[in-house]
Amino acid sequence: TDLSHIRNFSIVAHIDHGKSTLADRLIQETGTVKDRDMKEQLLDSMDIERERGITIKANTVRIEYDADDGEHYVLNLIDTPGHVDFAYEVSRSMRAVEGSLLVVDSTQGVEAQTLANVYQAIEADHEIVPVLNKIDLPASDCDRVAEQIEDVIGIDATDAIRVSAKTGEGIHEVLEAIVTQLPPPKGDRGAPLKAMLVDSWYDSYLGVVVLVRIMDGVLKKGDRIRMMSTGATHQVDRIGVFRPQMESVDELGPGEIGFITASIKQVRDTRVGDTITHERKPCAEPLPGFKPAQPVVFCGLFPVDSAEFEDLRTAIEKLALNDASFSYEMETSAALGFGFRCGFLGLLHLEVIRDRIEREYDIELITTAPSVIYHIYMKDGSMFELHNPADMPDPSRIDRIEEPRIKATILVPDEYLGDVLKLCQDRRGIQLDLTYAGNRAMVVYDLPLNEVVFDFYDRLKSVTKGYASFDYQLTGYRADNLVKMQILVNEEPVDALSVMVHRDRAETRGRAMVEKLKELIPRHMFKIPIQAAIGGKVIARETLSALRKDVTAKCYGGDATRKRKLLEKQKAGKKKMRQFGKVDIPQEAFISALKMD
Ligand code: GTP
Repeated sequence: TDLSHIRNFSIVAHIDHGKSTLADRLIQETGTVKDRDMKEQLLDSMDIERERGITIKANTVRIEYDADDGEHYVLNLIDTPGHVDFAYEVSRSMRAVEGSLLVVDSTQGVEAQTLANVYQAIEADHEIVPVLNKIDLPASDCDRVAEQIEDVIGIDATDAIRVSAKTGEGIHEVLEAIVTQLPPPKGDRGAPLKAMLVDSWYDSYLGVVVLVRIMDGVLKKGDRIRMMSTGATHQVDRIGVFRPQMESVDELGPGEIGFITASIKQVRDTRVGDTITHERKPCAEPLPGFKPAQPVVFCGLFPVDSAEFEDLRTAIEKLALNDASFSYEMETSAALGFGFRCGFLGLLHLEVIRDRIEREYDIELITTAPSVIYHIYMKDGSMFELHNPADMPDPSRIDRIEEPRIKATILVPDEYLGDVLKLCQDRRGIQLDLTYAGNRAMVVYDLPLNEVVFDFYDRLKSVTKGYASFDYQLTGYRADNLVKMQILVNEEPVDALSVMVHRDRAETRGRAMVEKLKELIPRHMFKIPIQAAIGGKVIARETLSALRKDVTAKCYGGDATRKRKLLEKQKAGKKKMRQFGKVDIPQEAFISALKMD
């Protein structure tokens, strides 16, 4: 296809605003999938998805469209990940296309996530077509939402297309807008191959599948290619496009989007944003902006049952094969034994991996406090990155500690604004901006990432009854008065509970933690002091009194069933406990103790 008849685009939308439904509708309207096959087809791919346990990128699709101008066009839709943790991946997929449809639910309005992604689209110089969805619903208010798009995002929404992805109304206008409003891609067929690696995933039949956008040159089956960031070379054994099912083609030229397979062993060997070129006739320069995925949040994962360490190793290694942004190394903890220190793109990423280990591999885990990467500047002029509070050097040798900061954008209905401001203030936030659009406020805060990684999102949801939306970007490092706080249980430091805190907040945090632990740790036959300390200095203390009687003593003498049940319950509870010195600490204590109310 010649470049002037190609249009490449992505869809920017908040979860549930109708991205998938609209994509399906575009596919159906253009006959890419015949009407009567539609249901079957999509169901089919879902079955395959389930069977093979893979994600078919149904939203990355090549659509053939005969436009009103009588010309035939190829439209390529690329799917973009929707979550804040994957901002870098979003930025790469945006670079692979020239335009975006901004889909906003006309019964709802703009959300923070939409904002973050639309800014990425603007940064990638996209032409943006606003689309107001769900006009079939009585609550639809297009004028209000169009105004909000103009106020909050600052793009013209007077001609926003009004559609119902459900009934199909307005879909033809969307296709015409893609053709008439979005620019065609640029590229030079005669130049050396320059292709962007947009995404990759593992398919159990095909191995690693790589989604590419050709910038210059032509990619053919059998070509020997080179990944410019690593220098690794491969032979292309399959090349194709998604309609939305995979279909082989002979070649991909400039401006085109498709997939290749090349006997690549692991997804880890493919890096989003990397430049793919020919081994023999490489391009001079890679595409700008590539950066290898950098984990920003670290935590320790330990098996509750130390006999499961090898199983945990296997699980982690397997998961890492398919996730280049997840890092791990072995860690030993005085209290928890052998485990792994793992790095994640963000909290959601952490939760996903932890859940998969627990569910798919059936290993119960103790997760230690998530920590960000601190920059520790020593008095001798050296600097190192602290990933684990347990590795803190002697404070007397430290010149200063810098922590990562973020710019957080929160959109919230007026009535909850006060609570949101208080939450941000409590987390050492500095307000940067506050604007209103209709009855919603947009607040921008500069916050320490450390204060956000744990339970900020949960707290935000609870103080706003779920009505706030939140997004953030890392902005840089800044020095602050940070200290390591230790927790001592029965005079023994429990390293897994050590956290970095701001000095001014240490007492409050420490007191909250020891109070929580007092509730969470069961009573023993002896008295247990629980303390929070900085250096050698105790800043908070609680005492768990000794257990006087056997627990079963409070059962009615003769009731054997009841007694047995209680003992069984105790035994089940035991499994989830770890012994620290002479004290049993239940698994949930490690997470709960860190949550602040
Ligand atoms: P995620 O897949 O969760 O990211 O959501 P999405 O943005 O892809 O939204 P999806 O297409 O799954 O739509 C969300 C819900 O809205 C579904 O229940 C759709 O059936 C419904 N929906 C989408 N478009 C319309 C519309 O035009 N009208 C109505 N009434 N419902 C719609």
